[in-house]
Amino acid sequence: MTTDLAALGLRESATFDRATIADIQRAADTGIYDIRGWGAKRALPHFDDLLFLGASMSRYPLEGYREKCATDVTLGARNALEPIHLDIPVTIAGMSFGALSANAKEALGRGASEAGTSTTTGDGGMTPEERGQSKTLVYQYLPSRYGMNPDDLRKADAIEIVLGQGAKPGGGMLLGQKITERVAGMRTLPIGIDQRSASRHPDWTGPDDLTIKIAEIREITDWRKPVYVKIGASRPYYDTALAVKAGADVVVLDGMQGGTAATQQVFIEHVGIPTLAAIGPAVQALQELGVHRTGVQLIVSGGIRNGADVAKALALGADAVAIGTAALIALGDNDPRYADEYAKLGSAAGFYDDFQDGRDPAGISTQDPELSARLDPVAAGRRLANYLRVLTLEAQTIARACGKSHVRNLEPEDLVALTVESAAMAGVPLAGTSWIPGRS
Ligand SMILES: Cc1cc2nc3c(=O)[nH]c(=O)nc-3n(C[C@H](O)[C@H](O)[C@H](O)COP(=O)(O)O)c2cc1C
Repeated sequence: MTTDLAALGLRESATFDRATIADIQRAADTGIYDIRGWGAKRALPHFDDLLFLGASMSRYPLEGYREKCATDVTLGARNALEPIHLDIPVTIAGMSFGALSANAKEALGRGASEAGTSTTTGDGGMTPEERGQSKTLVYQYLPSRYGMNPDDLRKADAIEIVLGQGAKPGGGMLLGQKITERVAGMRTLPIGIDQRSASRHPDWTGPDDLTIKIAEIREITDWRKPVYVKIGASRPYYDTALAVKAGADVVVLDGMQGGTAATQQVFIEHVGIPTLAAIGPAVQALQELGVHRTGVQLIVSGGIRNGADVAKALALGADAVAIGTAALIALGDNDPRYADEYAKLGSAAGFYDDFQDGRDPAGISTQDPELSARLDPVAAGRRLANYLRVLTLEAQTIARACGKSHVRNLEPEDLVALTVESAAMAGVPLAGTSWIPGRS
């Protein structure tokens, strides 16, 4: 039975709301800070605060059935002998084996390959299931070096040097209950002991060392593979410029809404800047260095959910986007059919974020053999491919409505903002005006 609290004259405090009170009670009970998965849950300025103008007298739309609107993207042609060609501008973000089950990693590879895009390893190395099922696989080179293997660098189609993540520019956790024998073996770690992901690379102290690292990776891979650099959105203008100067082919920019497998809640909600605010400064850096849309590509992630988000990120200057949380949901994460089991864990379908504790009823963020076996990698891969197709079709529909024959031709001019904040952050006019706060 639900009680209508307002009818009883009870008023919830905006400052001390129920979630805040529960947080204080949990901290007082346990004496430890909260660690969880998922990304920032508070409301932040986001793509929903932008709208497309669509066609009008001064623009004419393309016709859906007869006029083509292309979606392909090439990544890494600046220096690599073998650049990446993707059919769609949506990629699967790096998520670790360890955080995710082997079946989930395989499903990500299958879904991405079927939809004509890439998937990415994570903090924990490359699994044969993932390599085997991924037509295009990006291999992450992380501060922790967990699972790092020079042979795997050569097996990958591109290398992504990770400097940070939107959810945690500065380090995360893999809790002991997920460090099974296989995970421990790949990372050369003791079984069952909590692991803190390293917050910085052990062999460098500044941007000059990134230049050396990129050169080293190019040598190992015979200058064949594109080198990406992933940054968590905090100072995107400077970080993008430094990554380009160091020789990156692709910059991956992850906003603070970006998902995680296990990070301190205080970090997820209070460190970094929103995806919407991060794109503009990164694009500005690329433009000033003369490489935007020509030499260096920008992949944006952090809260991408639908084709409108994809189209808006491209219009603001991204070449492609990456998805993490949405891909897991497409595989079957938070599925209502496991409602009873989520309830037993003190959660509910649509709210489950305990990716760190290894008891995921959907068999995705777990290493438990019985739970992982629930996820059929073939069926889950097909669901992901469907979802990726929908994202692409939606972005295409919007691009056509704006009169574009390629999704990458979307531009800031196609957008307006609903709020003063989002207008200032995205650098587009407030709807119905020509006013861009801070610029005009
Ligand atoms: C379960 C999970 C595991 C992740 N593991 C990694 C990782 O190993 N390395 C990394 O760079 N990012 C990792 N991330 C972050 C993603 O690569 C990506 O930046 C983020 O999920 C994008 O935001 P979105 O989830 O809102 O799409 C992980 C995210 C999730 C949800």
